[in-house]
Amino acid sequence: MSVWTATVLTLFPEMFPGPLGHSLAGRALAAGHWNFSAIDIREFATDAHRTVDDAPFGGGPGMVMKPDPLFESVEHVRKSAALDETAPVVLLTPQGRRFNQRIAEEFSELADIVLICGRYEGVDERVGQHLATDEISIGDYVLGGGELAAMVVIDAVARLVPGVVGSAESPANDSHTTGLLQHPLYTRPPDFRGMDVPEVLLSGHHAEIARWQRREALRRTLERHEAEAQRARDAMAEAKATSSGTRCSMSSVS
Ligand code: ADE
Repeated sequence: MSVWTATVLTLFPEMFPGPLGHSLAGRALAAGHWNFSAIDIREFATDAHRTVDDAPFGGGPGMVMKPDPLFESVEHVRKSAALDETAPVVLLTPQGRRFNQRIAEEFSELADIVLICGRYEGVDERVGQHLATDEISIGDYVLGGGELAAMVVIDAVARLVPGVVGSAESPANDSHTTGLLQHPLYTRPPDFRGMDVPEVLLSGHHAEIARWQRREALRRTLERHEAEAQRARDAMAEAKATSSGTRCSMSSVS
């Protein structure tokens, strides 16, 4: 049976595997628990200059990635690799749906994955509409390109693939899989520069420890949600103040 394979289409194949070749994912890659390849989109350019971008129709700043090398490269991967036909083709873009643990789980249940890394001002819209099966953003900020985002997605998905993470560190217990943030962790020494470890963790009382860990996970999760709710309330108050300011200035005009 072939292992889960991530294929990245990029203008910078030399950036890979990068961090994916180290640590847990890297060891699992070396051990053959998953597979990886980076393909240079420029090899699929159709003209003598190997052009992969062009100016946007309608004008505007920057360059747009052309659709033809991207369609050609995905078709090449589909034909040449022993790729599962249900493999998602994911376009990394700040306009995509926000990546999270649920999406990582969704991808890990599919046989393989193809990731397209955008560059420049963006990618021709026809790629998102007719080639990619999904558009993913790793957060509300703009990176120089999709390569780092692809690494984040692959790292999060690969560790859910059976055999990549040892059973002792089961991803089923990950924060976000459980819906809760992780409780605080401590290791030796128990007293470091006057900073103590909570007494209960040294007590050897497993039931008490489990209760403490659950309470702490709940407390952290609540704190995070309360901070997010407060930011949303502040934004709402600001939006209301702005719109009433607009109404005032409009009524003063009429
Ligand atoms: N490319 C540029 N910025 C990105 C982001 N935030 N997520 C995914 N791909 C990107």
